[in-house]
Amino acid sequence: MDQRHLLMHQAMLGDRRRIEAYDRALAGAVDEDTVVADVGAGTLALTALALRHGAAHVYAVEADPQVAAVADRIIKANDWDDRVTLVVGDARLARLPRQVDVTVCELMGNLGPEEDMARILRTFNRRNLRPGGVVVPERVVTRLAAVQFDDEGWGIWSDDFLGMRLDVVQELVEPSAHLHFLSREPVLLGEPAVLVDTARGDTGLRAARPLALPLERDGTLHAVLGYFTATLAPGIELSNMPSYLGCNWAVFVWPLRHTRVAAGDTVHVRPRRPEGPAARDVTRWRLDCHLDRADKR
Ligand SMILES: C[S@@+](CC[C@H](N)C(=O)[O-])C[C@H]1O[C@@H](n2cnc3c(N)ncnc32)[C@H](O)[C@@H]1O
Repeated sequence: MDQRHLLMHQAMLGDRRRIEAYDRALAGAVDEDTVVADVGAGTLALTALALRHGAAHVYAVEADPQVAAVADRIIKANDWDDRVTLVVGDARLARLPRQVDVTVCELMGNLGPEEDMARILRTFNRRNLRPGGVVVPERVVTRLAAVQFDDEGWGIWSDDFLGMRLDVVQELVEPSAHLHFLSREPVLLGEPAVLVDTARGDTGLRAARPLALPLERDGTLHAVLGYFTATLAPGIELSNMPSYLGCNWAVFVWPLRHTRVAAGDTVHVRPRRPEGPAARDVTRWRLDCHLDRADKR
């Protein structure tokens, strides 16, 4: 067994806010007549929640054979054989023996769409969700924000680090992203802007257009952040911004050279998703960025 799988699932199971949000969403969607599909079932946390709310049956769909083997052990250890059917394979190819009333899924990446949840669910639901069925989450939005940090995580981006100049290091750094759990809320220099919204039919980042981030206050631009907000059910939201204790999703941070900005300025940004497996490496995610000053003098 690849231990990395188990550690990844440990982080997800340890994220209590995530579990509680899904629990509340499923409480409103599941009763004893409900047939549920858990897409990307992993170690069956969402299956367990659906069963706790009385689901008649759960189809647990898992693509990774090693993870599916773990799920199988859990099903057997809990005597769930008559309540849970494990379907091993890619959800995009799955054809269940009957249509389900509810699809539940947690395939959000740190930015939201990296794991292709919207596309996977669109294909899966077309075949397997009954007309009018419920999807949890019903919507995922990715936003980008221009921020000023309060001395947090600057490192090599500091103008003065213990009295040492680091601009010579900054010149070597490529404009790539890194992942960060924020310990303090950053100052938003303007309203975060929507990059991807599944409610308007966006499925991923490939088609993401350049985005304008109008600044509404004077300050110092330190970074552009990227994060997601999932609406699991009406009024039940889950977001990785701001970070919270136990959160298993970091925030995408594109650090920038510290730049004084003013209200009325606009930061134009465009994240560039690397092609293929390189997309898993956050440092390969570049950001085209350009500042348009309101005062051109
Ligand atoms: C983020 S984990 C969530 C696991 C579990 N649902 C939970 O909430 O704890 C996503 C899981 O989906 C699986 N997965 C990813 N893409 C899939 C696909 N196309 N079809 C089925 N499973 C997939 C992964 O192997 C992984 O186990």
